[in-house]
Amino acid sequence: MKVLFVGGSGNISSACTTRALEKGHDVYHCNRGTRPIPKEVTLVKCDIRNRSGAAAALKGMSFDVVADFLSYTPEHIETILSLFEGHTRQYIFISSASVYNKPPLHHVISESTPLHNPLWKYSSDKILCENMLMDAYRTRGFPVTIVRPAHTYDNGFIPLPFQSASFTIPKRILDGREMFVHGDGQSLWTITHSRDFAVGFVGLFANPNAIAQAYNINSDEVFTWDMIFKMIGDALGKKPNIIHIPSDFVASVNTELGAALLGDKAYSSVFDNYKIKQTVPEFRCVIPFHEGLRESVDWLLADPARQKLDEKLDKDIDEVIAAYKGR
Ligand SMILES: NC(=O)c1ccc[n+]([C@@H]2O[C@H](COP(=O)([O-])OP(=O)(O)OC[C@H]3O[C@@H](n4cnc5c(N)ncnc54)[C@H](OP(=O)(O)O)[C@@H]3O)[C@@H](O)[C@H]2O)c1
Repeated sequence: MKVLFVGGSGNISSACTTRALEKGHDVYHCNRGTRPIPKEVTLVKCDIRNRSGAAAALKGMSFDVVADFLSYTPEHIETILSLFEGHTRQYIFISSASVYNKPPLHHVISESTPLHNPLWKYSSDKILCENMLMDAYRTRGFPVTIVRPAHTYDNGFIPLPFQSASFTIPKRILDGREMFVHGDGQSLWTITHSRDFAVGFVGLFANPNAIAQAYNINSDEVFTWDMIFKMIGDALGKKPNIIHIPSDFVASVNTELGAALLGDKAYSSVFDNYKIKQTVPEFRCVIPFHEGLRESVDWLLADPARQKLDEKLDKDIDEVIAAYKGR
């Protein structure tokens, strides 16, 4: 099958590319070509935010599957529809598990949980994208499949409440500096390795039952945030210096950090993964978090150039902690 990844060399899409190649697919990437890609992949080099440039690069091409990791807003979906409608047999939209109702309505989240999250723009925009795509299906038969990953990681990505691709919080831990964990650290969180996710994801390719359907593709391993920080500390070889701060206090000091908590991580997120297991029988998560995490941390520690820091996040965390202690 001829498969195009919009993105393809990212945190989740790299493992999906590897899996698609293992499954014998003819894989194309549509990205700007700034990162290494497997030699078997054909690169369609363009900036997807430049619609006319992307249209020129993709001219005359059609695919069995287009898997889009890069759409976040209705404007992005307009570009996608203009580029791929009539040129693919299936379009897979990478949405997010953060689209589900906040605060939660039930302690287990399934695909039929209502989509409603006005607390985080990232999520409310993903809902608008899903609505546009389902409307394109209903009115014109656009063959969309929606996938809603929860927190999904690979090398270089440490699942954290903020900026998992940044080394800022791990560095605070290594330096013995304080880090806050939201709430009492006891809310539940689901974390999935990209290689496990990829099995379910690629299993949806060209599956006629997957058209106009949405899927959770997550691990059944669930942890409290205190456990997650303990495991991160174990992998780094340094006990985290943790202070617990209520999420609404964080939001009162910093709206951006607050939105990432009150619109997502403040609530327990446990998923019903029955539908993907039924549709893709080989999907089963086999990478325990403590092992995948150690692999990712070792990868980061092996080369300081991989340890990207964000001064603003570091400062924001300091400000929240100082405000909490001074209240
Ligand atoms: N990780 C999670 O926990 C999680 C959870 C829920 C949902 N998601 C969703 O997963 C998706 C992100 O997937 P990912 O982490 O695999 O990808 P990513 O790392 O965010 O994206 C990187 C990929 O996109 C390409 N790219 C970036 N900007 C581009 C542009 N303007 N034009 C063309 N290509 C561009 C990059 O290559 P170049 O730089 O070479 O162009 C690379 O291939 C998002 O839709 C996100 O909402 C992630």
